[in-house]
Amino acid sequence: MEIWSKPGIVELPAYRDELGALSVIEGESPFPFDIRRVYFLFDVPSHATRGSHAHKDLHQLIIAVSGSFHVTLDDGRAAIDYFLDRPDRALAVPPGYWRTLTGFSAGSTALVLASHEYDPSDYIRDYDEFREWAAQR
Ligand code: TYD
Repeated sequence: MEIWSKPGIVELPAYRDELGALSVIEGESPFPFDIRRVYFLFDVPSHATRGSHAHKDLHQLIIAVSGSFHVTLDDGRAAIDYFLDRPDRALAVPPGYWRTLTGFSAGSTALVLASHEYDPSDYIRDYDEFREWAAQR
């Protein structure tokens, strides 16, 4: 569960043979929360920056199911860049991280599993406000 107090890469099982590969997310593995929402980003122009917000309570698992993109996670003190380019390597994102998604390759799709339904009040969309909120956690 340590992974869910900090961000990190989670390897998904991949069942591979000469007919291709299959990865699965099931029960609590590797997302130890109820999956209350699934959404995906597609047709994102390569110059676009998505995200640019933080969540107060939401846990997410982000997967590059096709193509590649960068996810930068900032806890208010330091930022780490993750390059996602494989469908069987997911990024665990706990609450409290300012995230930006950039550098989408052509045809890429970012699949996101979320622990809660869409709730605008869970968002912090102003970076200065995020810094203040993060400093008080
Ligand atoms: P937004 O949060 O701005 O996307 P991103 O942070 O990935 O760049 O969301 C874009 C639009 O989609 C916005 O109008 C809100 C809407 N939306 C939903 O209705 N439900 C959702 O679960 C999400 C994530 C967004």
